[in-house]
Amino acid sequence: MNATPAPASPAWRDAAIARLPAVPLEDGRSLRELAEALRDVARQPDTPRADDRAFADGDGYRRFLLARLPHAEALLIWWPPGYGTPVHDHDRLWGIELVLDGMLVVDEYAVQAGATGAEGLHLERRPSVRLPRGAARLFDDPGYAHACHNAFFDRPALSLHVYGGPLERYRRFERDGAGWRVSEVRPALVRDADGTA
Ligand SMILES: [Fe+2]
Repeated sequence: MNATPAPASPAWRDAAIARLPAVPLEDGRSLRELAEALRDVARQPDTPRADDRAFADGDGYRRFLLARLPHAEALLIWWPPGYGTPVHDHDRLWGIELVLDGMLVVDEYAVQAGATGAEGLHLERRPSVRLPRGAARLFDDPGYAHACHNAFFDRPALSLHVYGGPLERYRRFERDGAGWRVSEVRPALVRDADGTA
């Protein structure tokens, strides 16, 4: 798969990658412990900033692969001002989405168990969460879904995303009358102007 090298210092990138689990998470640290280790990395002085011009290439949302390991994948995501994703899940993987710079708003949903097709699909809305710099959202429920957007319209945001394995597909959810419609998406890593994470 193509991947643009993330514009982060090699030392910072190595520090982040060193925290990723080498074994399935259920055999080692808890999700919370992993998130705390990643927050330590996010507090380092060389943590990449959203206004680094190396991230912006036009006005599009951008995803940069940091590492793809058997039991974890790490991405940096750059959010243009005001940019928001559709509602999506994460291929049943656990995940940590940690804001490195700026602020994200996460609108959360629970996909009704057993609802796998277009008919009868129901997403239960949960409260939204605001994530300032250094804050993270953790999830390990396979039915977890969310939409994220940059809280600000006058500045970009940057976030670190870690998932419990290669995120090679996800479902995108759209309202369809009183219910929801679902489509499967395979994300492109170099640039995904209409993508999610
Ligand atoms: Fe996501």
